[in-house]
Amino acid sequence: MKNSISTFISAKKSGVKLTMLTAYDYSMSKIIDECDVNGILVGDSLGMVCLGYKDTLSVTMDDMLHHSKAVARGAKNALVVSDMPFMSYQTSIYDAVKNAGRFIQEARAQAVKLEGGAVVCPQIEAIVNAQIPVMGHIGLTPQSVNMFGGFKVQGKNSEDAQKLIEDAKKIEAAGAFAVVLECIPSKLAAIISKEISIPTIGIGAGPGCDGQVLVYQDMLNMFSDFKPKFVKNFANVGDLMREGFESYVRDVNEGTFPSEEHCFKISEEILSKLY
Ligand code: KIV
Repeated sequence: MKNSISTFISAKKSGVKLTMLTAYDYSMSKIIDECDVNGILVGDSLGMVCLGYKDTLSVTMDDMLHHSKAVARGAKNALVVSDMPFMSYQTSIYDAVKNAGRFIQEARAQAVKLEGGAVVCPQIEAIVNAQIPVMGHIGLTPQSVNMFGGFKVQGKNSEDAQKLIEDAKKIEAAGAFAVVLECIPSKLAAIISKEISIPTIGIGAGPGCDGQVLVYQDMLNMFSDFKPKFVKNFANVGDLMREGFESYVRDVNEGTFPSEEHCFKISEEILSKLY
């Protein structure tokens, strides 16, 4: 069944947990889509797990559009949400609406996500007014890494925790249909989830959220640069891939691949006429 923002809103009402995973290309989008995941996030984590940057700041609109198009082509049932990259919405409300529109019109995503609390609410409101669903994102917002002084858990003192609750409420009031809570204490995330009527999608925010999102390379053990504490290893796909690549190298070196079954034939008659 096709997921929409209504699926997200009704899941919150009925207490059904939501699932989201990231994807960045067509093949992975298709596999994830076949697994009944509610939403696929084309995250700007793309910059780190696909492009090899140390953070998400260098990711551009062109990068995000390119990958969003591929993901949207692979997703039949999951709601496709595209991340708005750094400097695509902070600069002005006009830029925010214009760039959000490109994800819907050119990439055929169904929603966009942007990072920040009260400060980006005018952008959220304007994008929603343009009939584009918005997912908020607060807590450890990676585009603010230089302001945070690193990738650190947020909301640990009472002032920051209170601000996150206020931010979540303002994001809801601005018209967002859901909000990502990243790397905040579980009990704080549970409070936020109770205080607002739109679903919270947690990553490193504990079980009290209305849904969860993970970067697929993290949960399949395919990304080895670092492993956040909140990631569970659901399958050792990285090891399986290494095994597969090593057997390929071995078979080619030993001359056992390609074998008869992988080869195309030509008749002896045609061959006899050559050179
Ligand atoms: O870019 C991303 O993948 C994200 C998730 C971690 C929520 O924003």
